[in-house]
Parts: sequence; C-alpha cells; structure tokens
Amino acid sequence: MKRIHILGISGSLRPDSTNTIILKTLGSLLPSDSTFEIFEGLDEIHHFSPGLDDTSPVTRLKTAISQAHGVVICTPEYAFGVPGTLKNALDWTVGTGNLNDKPVAVISASPLNSGGNNALASLLLTLTALGTRKNEASALSIANVKGKITDGVVTDAHTLGELRAQCANLLALIGG
Ligand SMILES: Cc1cc2nc3c(=O)[nH]c(=O)nc-3n(C[C@H](O)[C@H](O)[C@H](O)COP(=O)(O)O)c2cc1C
Repeated sequence: MKRIHILGISGSLRPDSTNTIILKTLGSLLPSDSTFEIFEGLDEIHHFSPGLDDTSPVTRLKTAISQAHGVVICTPEYAFGVPGTLKNALDWTVGTGNLNDKPVAVISASPLNSGGNNALASLLLTLTALGTRKNEASALSIANVKGKITDGVVTDAHTLGELRAQCANLLALIGG
C-alpha cells in the first residue's frame, strides 16, 4: 500500500505560532511509516475572486492538498472567526473541489479559556461546504495553549493524548 501522506496547514503566519507548534507536534505523533509536511506560503496566495486564474502559490496549495491522503488544519481565532488568510486559501479550492471527500482533522488553539471555539465552528462549516470527510471526533479545541507548550513543543500530557486521538481518527477516516 502507498505510504500515507498528511498535509498540515497552519492558519497563523507568525514564526513562533502556537498553532504551527501544535501541527509539528501532531506530525511527530503520526506513524513512522507515514509522511507529513506543513504547507509553506499561505501568505503568497492572493485574494480570491471568482474567474481569476490560479497563480503558482494557488496551484502549489491545490497540488499539496490533492497529493495528501489527509489534511490537518490548525488555526488561531481572530475576532471570533477564522483568520482571513486561511479562509481566502480555502475559497480557492471551492471551484476545483480539491478538498472534496478529503479526510480532515481540525484544531484551534488559543491562549484564552475559550480555546478558539468560534473559529473552530466557523471552519467546520466551511469544511462541510467543501465536502471534506470528517466525523464528530475530527475537531479539537485547545484552550490556554501557552501553558501546554515548552521550548517549542507540546509537553502537556492531556493535550498530547488529544493529538494522538486526532491522528488515530484521521487515519481511520483515511482507511475508511
Ligand atoms: C487581531 C487578533 C484578534 C484575536 N482574536 C481572538 C479571538 O477572537 N479569540 C481568541 O481566542 N484569541 C484571539 N486572539 C489571540 C490569538 O488566539 C493569539 O494571538 C494566538 O496566540 C494566535 O495564534 P498563534 O500563536 O498560532 O499565532 C487574537 C489575536 C489577534 C492578534
């Protein structure tokens, strides 16, 4: 069987993003015979408007999604919603259906007690519109994230367990 390949997409552009750290930690928890990459260049994707041709960064994103067996999105919440950069990137995939039937895991981490629940709910709606393959276990909200990370990796045991569960659920969705 072909090696399972997972694509990670971070909704944060910050170099020391907590959401990107969570993605990297999740990647390290995947089975050793799988491969994991984080998409680079979300900020190079220009504003979506119907009818515009794909530019190279858009094509790179679509190809990366299409070549992955599953996609993990981990995003902060901005003003109770999904960061515009991430929503813009997802809008580019509507017409070409790159995420249609694609198994996904969706995570939102926040330094607040709310854990980015608004962004998570909004992103799940978008991913439903895009036809992704997911179930009730596909979403994870991580509250008070800063206390769960030490020296650039997730060290909180409970959160590591939740990330392992996300990996297992995603692999099950891929298998099914
Ligand atoms: C403009 C702005 C708006 C924000 N709005 C929210 C919000 O609505 N809810 C929330 O939980 N955190 C909010 N935050 C805090 C972010 O969750 C926090 O900066 C987080 O660390 C960003 O994720 P990152 O570390 O992956 O970059 C906001 C931050 C900024 C800069």
